Amino acid sequence: MSTPFADLGKILVIIPTYNEAENIEPIVRRLRDAVPEADILVADDNSPDGTGDLADKLAANDDHVHVLHRKGKEGLGAAYIAGFRWGIEREYDVLVEHDADGSHQPEQLPRLLTALRDADLVLGSRYVKGGAVQNWPKSREILSRGGNIYTRLALGVPLKDATGGYRAFRRATLEGIGLDAVASAGYCFQVDLAWRAVKAGFRVVEVPITFVERERGQSKMSRAIVIEAMARVGKWGLGHRARQLRGLVRKG
Ligand code: GDD
Ligand code: MN
Repeated sequence: MSTPFADLGKILVIIPTYNEAENIEPIVRRLRDAVPEADILVADDNSPDGTGDLADKLAANDDHVHVLHRKGKEGLGAAYIAGFRWGIEREYDVLVEHDADGSHQPEQLPRLLTALRDADLVLGSRYVKGGAVQNWPKSREILSRGGNIYTRLALGVPLKDATGGYRAFRRATLEGIGLDAVASAGYCFQVDLAWRAVKAGFRVVEVPITFVERERGQSKMSRAIVIEAMARVGKWGLGHRARQLRGLVRKG
């Protein structure tokens, strides 16, 4: 078997799932084909549709596939943090975030991993040159683009797509960020981690991806998730600007 990314060390792709019974088998198969040397961890929040059992069956037939069963739905951020801890304990060198629903294309993972050779965190980006979104309703695109503009204004992060969820971290980046301090439960977890990485001085690089809206199952995005994100990002932004101002006053 050829292992083009052996230089990066042990790779773990984490797939958080909540009711993805129709999607889990095809996405795991595509990932296994695209990057055969990577291991996969399905982090399932006790999905009522049996996604966790399907993942167990995949794991029983393939020692590259693992399952983390969590007791109930606690949000995407919490599932990823549990998955990161699982991977860090087992000394994986690279930890990847990957949706189950086909929006992230496993065939583009080599592009992220290649970029990680010269970075500490690679973001799959819809909004850099060459990036794209397929089949999103206009309303969702406005929410996403608006979320990114809001994030840039509030936090001053120089990133085009700080809310995206297709990413590759070096283990040292996650260890340096300090996962204990991350409280975000919902999707603002993505902004939280990207911002912490930038602040800590890690090399954060964006590579273009094509995000394809899911064909099966439902998005878990909700009004509560959007409100949590706006409130937290706004609060971080105010704190950040206040610190900047205090710095200016002291210098003056
Ligand atoms: N374990 C667990 N628990 N998994 C969850 C939960 C949860 O509470 N909520 C969502 N997931 C899983 C889904 O099953 C899917 O595999 C993945 O997380 C993404 O969820 P979607 O509901 O499909 O997200 P989306 O398409 O609306 O949002 C995507 O794009 C956003 C940026 O536009 C995600 O990649 C987000 O992370 C990203 O911020
Ligand atoms: Mn989705």
